[in-house]
Amino acid sequence: MGKEEVSIDWEAMSSDVLVFYVNGKKIIEKSPDPEITLLTYLRVKLRLTGSKLGCGEGGCGACTVMISKWDHINRKIIHFSANACLAQVVSVHGCAVTTVEGIGSTKTKLHAVQERLAKFHGSQCGFCTPGIVMSMYALLRNKSVPSAEDIEECLQGNLCRCTGYRPILSALNTFTGGTSGCPMGIECCKNKQVANGTSDKNSLSNDDPHSAESVCFSKYERTQEIMFPPDLLIESKSEELKILKFVGERVTWFRPTSLQGLVELKSIYPDAQLVNGNTEIGVEANVRGRYFKYIVTPLDVKELKTISVDKKGVNIGSSCTISQIKEELQSFIDSGNFPKYQTQCLESLVEMIYWFAGDQIRNVAAIGGNIMTASPISDLNPILMANESIATFRLHSRAKDRQVLMDQSFFPIYRTTCAEKGEVLISVHLPFNAKDQYMKAYKQSKRREDDIAIVNAAMRVVFHPGTCKVLKFVAAFGGMAATSVMPENTMQNMIGRDWNEALLDDVLIWLRKDLPLRLDAPGGMVEYRESLAASFFFKFFLYVKDCLIKSGLVENSLSTQNVTAFAPSNTIHVPMSTRTWQDATHGQPHDDMVGRPIQHVSGYKHTTGEAVYVDDMPTFSDELYLWLVTSSRPHAYIKKVDISKAVTCKGFVTYVDHRDVPGTNEISICGDLCEVFATRKVTCIGQTIGAVVADTQAHAQRAAQTVKIDYEDISPLIITIEDAMHHQSYFDISKKLVHGDAITAMATCDHVIEGEVRIGGQEHFYLETQACIAVPKTEDGEIEMFCSSQDPSMLQRTTATLLGVEANKVVIRVKRMGGGFGGKETRFLVVSNPVAVAAHKCGKAVRCMLSRKEDMIITGGRHPFFAKYKVGFMRDGKLAALILDLYSNGGNTLDHSESVLIKAILQSDNCYRMPNVLIRGKICKTNISTTNAFRGFGTPQAIMIVETWMTRIAESLNMTHEQLRDLNMYKEEDVTHFNQKLDSFQARRCWEEVIEKSKMVQRKEQIAQFNQQSRWHKRGIACIPLQYGIGYPYRWCHGGALVHVYNDGSVYLSHGGTEMGQGLHTKMLQVAGRCLGIPLSRIHTRETSTASVPNTRSTAASFSTDLNGMAVKDACDTIMERLHPLRKQYPDLEWNDLIMKAYNERICLSATGYHKTPGMFSAWDAETGIVEGRTACYFSYGAAVSEVEVDCLTGDHVVLQTDIVMDVGRSINPAIDIGQIEGAFVQGYGLFTMEEPLHTPGGQVITSGPGVYKIPGFGDCPRKFNVHLLRNSDNDRAIYSSKAIGEPPLCLASSVFFAIKDAIGFAREESGLLGWFQLDSPATSESIRMACGDCFTKQHEHHINLKEEKHLTSWSIRA
Ligand SMILES: Cc1cc2nc3c(=O)[nH]c(=O)nc-3n(C[C@H](O)[C@H](O)[C@H](O)COP(=O)(O)OP(=O)(O)OC[C@H]3O[C@@H](n4cnc5c(N)ncnc54)[C@H](O)[C@@H]3O)c2cc1C
Ligand code: FES
Ligand code: FES
Repeated sequence: MGKEEVSIDWEAMSSDVLVFYVNGKKIIEKSPDPEITLLTYLRVKLRLTGSKLGCGEGGCGACTVMISKWDHINRKIIHFSANACLAQVVSVHGCAVTTVEGIGSTKTKLHAVQERLAKFHGSQCGFCTPGIVMSMYALLRNKSVPSAEDIEECLQGNLCRCTGYRPILSALNTFTGGTSGCPMGIECCKNKQVANGTSDKNSLSNDDPHSAESVCFSKYERTQEIMFPPDLLIESKSEELKILKFVGERVTWFRPTSLQGLVELKSIYPDAQLVNGNTEIGVEANVRGRYFKYIVTPLDVKELKTISVDKKGVNIGSSCTISQIKEELQSFIDSGNFPKYQTQCLESLVEMIYWFAGDQIRNVAAIGGNIMTASPISDLNPILMANESIATFRLHSRAKDRQVLMDQSFFPIYRTTCAEKGEVLISVHLPFNAKDQYMKAYKQSKRREDDIAIVNAAMRVVFHPGTCKVLKFVAAFGGMAATSVMPENTMQNMIGRDWNEALLDDVLIWLRKDLPLRLDAPGGMVEYRESLAASFFFKFFLYVKDCLIKSGLVENSLSTQNVTAFAPSNTIHVPMSTRTWQDATHGQPHDDMVGRPIQHVSGYKHTTGEAVYVDDMPTFSDELYLWLVTSSRPHAYIKKVDISKAVTCKGFVTYVDHRDVPGTNEISICGDLCEVFATRKVTCIGQTIGAVVADTQAHAQRAAQTVKIDYEDISPLIITIEDAMHHQSYFDISKKLVHGDAITAMATCDHVIEGEVRIGGQEHFYLETQACIAVPKTEDGEIEMFCSSQDPSMLQRTTATLLGVEANKVVIRVKRMGGGFGGKETRFLVVSNPVAVAAHKCGKAVRCMLSRKEDMIITGGRHPFFAKYKVGFMRDGKLAALILDLYSNGGNTLDHSESVLIKAILQSDNCYRMPNVLIRGKICKTNISTTNAFRGFGTPQAIMIVETWMTRIAESLNMTHEQLRDLNMYKEEDVTHFNQKLDSFQARRCWEEVIEKSKMVQRKEQIAQFNQQSRWHKRGIACIPLQYGIGYPYRWCHGGALVHVYNDGSVYLSHGGTEMGQGLHTKMLQVAGRCLGIPLSRIHTRETSTASVPNTRSTAASFSTDLNGMAVKDACDTIMERLHPLRKQYPDLEWNDLIMKAYNERICLSATGYHKTPGMFSAWDAETGIVEGRTACYFSYGAAVSEVEVDCLTGDHVVLQTDIVMDVGRSINPAIDIGQIEGAFVQGYGLFTMEEPLHTPGGQVITSGPGVYKIPGFGDCPRKFNVHLLRNSDNDRAIYSSKAIGEPPLCLASSVFFAIKDAIGFAREESGLLGWFQLDSPATSESIRMACGDCFTKQHEHHINLKEEKHLTSWSIRA
């Protein structure tokens, strides 16, 4: 008899002591709170800050750790990766947790994963890196020689916003076998002199392809991995499972060890949540602030953890994890014990699991949780339903288990199952499939990997034996209603019908009736979703038909064209890449690192988790935490703020609002006066009204949630550009640029085209959300702020104004950021301002780091643009005149909107000569969070607009796109539309080289052939050139530096730029190293501080190396000048001795440096619209060719190949520059294809987390990704002839967009849809599918005409 078979007084049980191991160390926690996540415990209690908080909802992988435990059922140790942000700390009782700190360190030894990732330049800002390291580490613990596919699969749950993934994959693919030791052999760096931690071989570059083989790394010693704690092993093996209870502040948590105990608990606490993986409940808690009074975990109940097989099918315990199911079902399938037809449902499940979340979720999430959550987009439920699976429930008060068929009645309403109160799901039984049955499952989501479905489906048909007559058809769809739904009429009507085209036609009509969606259906995309349901059936129809043909039951064969509907043609699974760059200057001294691909100076610190970000800083004594209270209305008067409940909350300290601001509550941001705390009125959701300060983060959050605000809504509500145009709601700034006379010229053109194009916004999605700590000092009103900010000087100025002190009392310190991308140029103020006021009010240090959801709602993103164009051209293709009207959505305040608009206007030529131009621009004032700076600053939008009308002109003239671009491309000495003469015009070289290197001409022919053979997969290719103006035409364009040489010869370097992953500090060290003639190891840079370098420029516009590099050089040159007489006197003196001598000779060894861009001013006459002078300091150039393959039935696509040739002048660091190119390209790829910020018509932000807003993942990296740096390109306007690189390559990702458009064109041709078609950006799976235009999409274009839907608006809108 088990312990629990005698009834237990669960209520009276006392709280247990939590015991687990972290990195081999035993942790004993006497009073654990079940509400605390493992991540919080690690970071706050154990001060292990390597694991990061990126989202708190399992969507980014930054928090990944490895959990190891004794598997009591299979009696073995198991290791798996998990999201520490979702795991409750109490759930790891009896487990060993390994964090990034536990596997290697710069102080001892790096783990092979850490070393290789850093050496392959796989980290930039480094915030995602520990999570990636741990995912890979967990894989290696289970499989020491993984395949490339294993690696991609294990990284599905990790995101990186900086690198573009290629270098990470290159680094980790070295573990795929054969190269476990250094592949350099005798050439290994260990046999040569090493400079700055990189091998000589590695830093000596040439124009050969640089691949994995040119990097030197140490062997992976599996035997040296840390052991499962021996004590824990002994305990786990010998001890009986122990019932556990943990009682926290609000939540009680139980872990029974028998089924009886479990059902008993569920009967005592019928509202208790049965938590397995906590991937649903954890998100509810972290993101929506919910809590559940009782939690029971069934993880130790054997009956729920086992998968068994009998003659009829497979029985899966409800607590079996998704990974366990995949592994065990795959082994059943592979065992050869079952005929193939029998295991079709298992295969469908296994195939689907590949697309289910990422490894960290799959390793803990259970099938029971998936079923019982009853999500309408569950990936498993449709399969279980289509396979007529049986669920078994147990209720404490009932003698027998209840067995329920999983059909439509299983999920009666939204997120509800037919389970009775107190019932526990024990298992689900999947019957084997019989002969004459066929089954398949489908899923389409916004992103291919780790994304919830837009629509999914599973279908199973049973034929009368030996015929093609339908005996039974069972299907279930997700994403088509409030529950997983079965098309019952279709299923009924199909019975007795032959499997032929007539049936297909009928089914498409029946499905439409069975799965209707109203225009305002939650989830939006109604026509697309209806088309997907039809397309899935079409795929299934053809698949089954093919099977019937193969079994000789149907005569005529399927055309190869149609086979492509269900057989994917893209066969490149393992990404391939090459990179080329120019050798460092011939004869350059060995120690001179300029031009060499050395690794990021923080690379090892990133990979070991030692790199410190704001929230990693230890707490100050008595530190408080702040949680913002923000507006929940987009446009309203604030009637009343009621904090009466908040003050009674545990830990509450104070509430701050505008009344607490000692200086001024209105601060100037880009010349626009903005309230720090809203006083009377709010103009967007997420606007700060006040903030709660409490003793801990949890208490601050809970108290803030109780603050009640009464509003009075104001009309009109303006969300979109179209709304603003309708209401004439613009900022009081409009821009006009005139060049030549476009209106007159237009009249003389052979052809004129007119059109409109729309480009959506983008969320920055830096992995580290906005964060700040303010530390008030006891003297003179001083305050010190640690902030994730791209502009420390702005923060200093603003804080001073806010607190009513002079700037000299405020010190800002920025060590590094976990990504910025422009989002931390001004928007850090959202956090820093309230934190400064609170710190001032409380006289204590105050910290705040926005949750991912807050960050995405509050901080705003890239400007959506709408353009109306009219272009005149001659019949030979020569451009003659352009009239362009640009409208950007600026949100509720101006922020950087004016500069973004200016940049968009100036880039509206891309690199084409247009003799007559008239461009007008307006900024829409709307009720969304202010849009602000974002990598590219208006240029990506401009390029998209230019290339849209260029493409259209080419097609109208029947020219190839390349011919037209080539014909109109600027030439040296041409003058731009802003009257700047071009010198060193390199776009043509990039263009010609990339066409040649990518073999674009030959590939175009291959693509045409492929498309002829393939009806439902189409390929497309496009080449886009780029000219990108660098520098601001403003007087305040300057950089600063401070260099101290200490008398031991070591050097401290400080400069005006901030490090956000772009490698600025590394490049500055390279510059200083060259100037001073010393190895980089002698120079240290710690942080950016307003106390070291004052009045700095924001680190932005790709310009910081130019500005600060020159300033660093200036400072170093000053010191070298002072040293010159001594050096002349003692030419052979070692650096250290020289410095000591200089010190003794009383030579000043400290210098500041300064640089201002020379002769770079322009005048823009507002009246005439004419621009004069030098607007761009110089231009960066590039060109990219991308090839894609589109699934025309689903809108899915893959980037098969991208080739880039980029002009970075003489690269200071080719590895960093290539990293910027790859990273920017993939970020741009997200902008142009999948990232789509959505609002409700009422102004709520829908896309407020990684679950609903998708940035590219590992699987989206181009399958072949080749980057070449242009050779022999000089630039006398930047440091050491280099060029800016951070932003330009982002625009080149438009090549993917136009390749997609090209592919869609082929698909449309097949449907007889000839001629121009409009495609707005982003080219999401929805817009691709709908643009492909075929019989399926046509069927579903009916909503607009439906009378009863006329008054409805769609669920989501694009601002
Ligand atoms: C980042 C992320 C990605 C995801 N991706 C996908 C995806 O691609 N496809 C998909 O379908 N889902 C996805 N999900 C949803 C989620 O992972 C799944 O629904 C998962 O299977 C839930 O299992 P769990 O054990 O974590 O549930 P838990 O959070 O532990 O529990 C969920 C619910 O089930 C109830 N429950 C659990 N077991 C029982 C039982 N035996 N009897 C009665 N009630 C029970 C609990 O009371 C609770 O209400 C994703 C979630 C996240 C966070
Ligand atoms: S922080 Fe855990 S997955 Fe993002
Ligand atoms: S390095 Fe991956 S997010 Fe910055």
